[in-house]
Amino acid sequence: MTNIYKPTACEILSIKSESPIEWLFRVKTNIKPEPGQFIQVSIPKVGEAPISVAGYNIEEGWIEFLIRKVGKVTDAIFNLNPGDFLFLRGPYGNCFPLEQYTGKNLVIVAGGSGTAPVRPLIEKFINDKITTVDLLLGFKDLNSVLFKDEILNWKKKSSMILTVDKGCGLDGECVGLVTEYIPQLKLINDIQNLEVVIVGPPIMMKFSALEFLKLGIPENQIWVSFERNMSCAVGKCGHCKIDETYVCLEGPIFNYTKAKTLLD
Ligand SMILES: Cc1cc2nc3c(=O)[nH]c(=O)nc-3n(C[C@H](O)[C@H](O)[C@H](O)COP(=O)(O)OP(=O)(O)OC[C@H]3O[C@@H](n4cnc5c(N)ncnc54)[C@H](O)[C@@H]3O)c2cc1C
Ligand code: FES
Repeated sequence: MTNIYKPTACEILSIKSESPIEWLFRVKTNIKPEPGQFIQVSIPKVGEAPISVAGYNIEEGWIEFLIRKVGKVTDAIFNLNPGDFLFLRGPYGNCFPLEQYTGKNLVIVAGGSGTAPVRPLIEKFINDKITTVDLLLGFKDLNSVLFKDEILNWKKKSSMILTVDKGCGLDGECVGLVTEYIPQLKLINDIQNLEVVIVGPPIMMKFSALEFLKLGIPENQIWVSFERNMSCAVGKCGHCKIDETYVCLEGPIFNYTKAKTLLD
């Protein structure tokens, strides 16, 4: 019988600093994820953490993780170098409903490291001739802006608003919280044809969703992704449970009709 908890050793191909505490790790693997899914990433004798897939290329055989240095496992990961190994199991969780978004107007609102799980979604649709994308990305300050190289490209191909909470907007960035800029999104005027994805800290997702609701966007056209503490990731331990919902199995992506009952 196969052991579902057994991870596979995967070589780190490259490490790129995106911010002082958030680095992008590219890892060689034959895991085939979908946008929105996560992987259990571990180091033997240290521990394991769920990390979203921030990028992948199935033909070339790699996955990227944007990892924020916050504790035991992530501290240890930051001590690794290209050529060292990360241990992976997955992919887990559901993915964004890509078919439902195809051919629509897609608004993606992401805050801070919430940009990581939506990066594969943006990359999928930004070049798609039949799906139109509006991006609203918010960061704490200019030093915290992630994926600067990609943002330059996204800016050319979408109508994008980039905000920083404080400081000055040097290069056309707006200052303030993302919620303030939601009414300025171009695509929200064509409500019938719209799907909205919001990913970030719970408070940001809650208030952004409320702002879209105020503008008349129906709940069932809004989607969020949850970063709930997890352990097994396969519906066995109950760590991720909110009431009767197993976030590791039913999520991390939820339609707002369900998410509104889960957000505090
Ligand atoms: C579906 C999903 C996707 C995720 N995607 C990503 C991702 O793409 N990138 C990413 O970086 N993270 C992601 N996370 C979050 C990540 O899994 C957690 O941050 C994880 O706990 C990190 O593990 P750690 O051992 O490094 O941190 P831990 O040691 O578990 O620490 C986690 C938090 O607890 C606090 N803490 C630690 N020790 C103590 C203490 N003694 N007292 C009080 N507080 C303490 C830390 O400050 C930190 O905020 C995701 C989580 C989920 C559920
Ligand atoms: S993480 Fe164990 S049940 Fe979801």
